[in-house]
Amino acid sequence: MARWISTSFMCFLLLTVALMLWYASGLLSRLSQPSLPAKPEKTHLLLLSSWRSGSSFLGQMFNQNPEVFYLKEPAWHLWNRLQQKGPERLQRPIRDLLRSIFLCDTSALKPYMGRSEFVSDLFSWIKSRALCSAPACSTFPSLGDLEESHCSQICSRTPFQKMEEVCRSYSHVVVKAVRILDLEAFYPLLEDPSLNLKIIHLVRDPRAVLSSREHTKGLEMDDMIITGAQKAKPNASMVMQEVCKAQVRIHNASLPLKDRYLLVRYEDLAKDPLSYAASLFEYASLSLSPRMVAWVHHNTHPGVHRNQGFLMYSKDAKVVSQYWREKLSFQKAKQVQEICRQAMNIFGYQFIGSEVEQKDMSLTLVSP
Ligand SMILES: *[C@@H]1O[C@H](CO)[C@@H](O)[C@H](O)[C@H]1NC(C)=O
Ligand SMILES: *[C@@H]1O[C@H](CO)[C@@H](O)[C@H](O)[C@H]1NC(C)=O
Repeated sequence: MARWISTSFMCFLLLTVALMLWYASGLLSRLSQPSLPAKPEKTHLLLLSSWRSGSSFLGQMFNQNPEVFYLKEPAWHLWNRLQQKGPERLQRPIRDLLRSIFLCDTSALKPYMGRSEFVSDLFSWIKSRALCSAPACSTFPSLGDLEESHCSQICSRTPFQKMEEVCRSYSHVVVKAVRILDLEAFYPLLEDPSLNLKIIHLVRDPRAVLSSREHTKGLEMDDMIITGAQKAKPNASMVMQEVCKAQVRIHNASLPLKDRYLLVRYEDLAKDPLSYAASLFEYASLSLSPRMVAWVHHNTHPGVHRNQGFLMYSKDAKVVSQYWREKLSFQKAKQVQEICRQAMNIFGYQFIGSEVEQKDMSLTLVSP
C-alpha cells in the first residue's frame, strides 16, 4: 500500500514538473518572439543605377546585412551574350532573368553562361557575402567576414546549384543592375503576386559620372552597347547622352510605382551615410544592426584600413562625391551640363557658369 502511494506520488510530482517546464518554455518562447508573424514575407529589392554612380557602394551596404542575399550584376551574362540585339531589346530578357533570380531560380542564368558548374562561374560572385559564408561555403564558420582573396580560395568550388538553396534561406534578395535603361519593361514584376519588389534608383551628378569615367578602364564594351556603336569607340558625349537619357526615362516611368520606388542621389548618401543607410534599410524592411553601423562608418571615413571586413571603401565619401570639381575641366563640365540638362534639372543638380564656381567648394551644387 505504502509502496503504491509513493509510486503515484512520484508520478504526480513528475507530471507537475513536466507541466511547469512546458509552461515555462512556452512563456519563454513567447517572450523572445514578441508577436512575430509565423513566416516573414520575402522582400525583393532592385538597385537600379548607371556605371560610376556609387552603386557598388550602395550594393555593398545591403550586402553586409545578414538578412540579405545579394547579387551584383547578374544581368551581365545576358547583356554580353545578346549584345548584338541592342540595349532596348535586352530589357525584357533582363526582366525575366531578374524575376527568376528573385525567386531563387538560377537555372534562368545558365543559357547565358558559358559554364555554370561552380558559383565562381557567376560574374562578380565574390562580391556576395552570402556566397562567401555558410551555408554556401560550409568550410568556413558562419561568423566573421571573409576577405575576397580568402573567399576565392575557399568558396569558389561551391556547386552552382547550391546557390538556390542558399538564396531561399534569406528573407531578402537584393540585385544590383546598371544595365536597365527602361523601367516600363519592369512593370509586370511589380504586379507579380509572387514578388514583393521594391526599387531603389541611384543617380549621381553627370559631371561626377563623366569625371569618374575618365579614370576608369574597362567600360568600352558597355559604352558600345548602350550607344549602339558598331566599330569605332563612341566618344564621351555620346555615352553621357545615353546614360542621362536612361536615368530620366527610368524616373519618368516611376510615377505610377509610388512607394515601390525610391530615388536616391549619391551625393545625399555620401553626405550622411549613416542616417541615409537607416532610412534605406527601413524602406527595405531591414534592421540596422550595430555591426552595420560600424561597417557604414568604416567605409565612409578616411583612415580606416583593410582587414576589417569585406570590400572596403575607406575614403571620405563626402570628399569623393566632390572630386570631379577638381579633376574635370570646366570645358567638359559645361559640355556635359548641356548634354544632361534634363537629368540635371530633374535630379536637382545646379549648373555652373564658370571655373571659379566649379572650384568654389563653399557653393553647393546639389539642391536640397
Ligand atoms: C562625338 O561623336 C559624334 C558622332 O560621331 C559627333 O557628332 C560629335 O561631334 C562627337 N563629339 C565630340 C565632342 O567629339
Ligand atoms: C520625361 O518626361 C518629360 C516630362 O514629361 C518629357 O519631356 C521627356 O521627354 C521625358 N524623357 C524621357 C527620356 O522619357
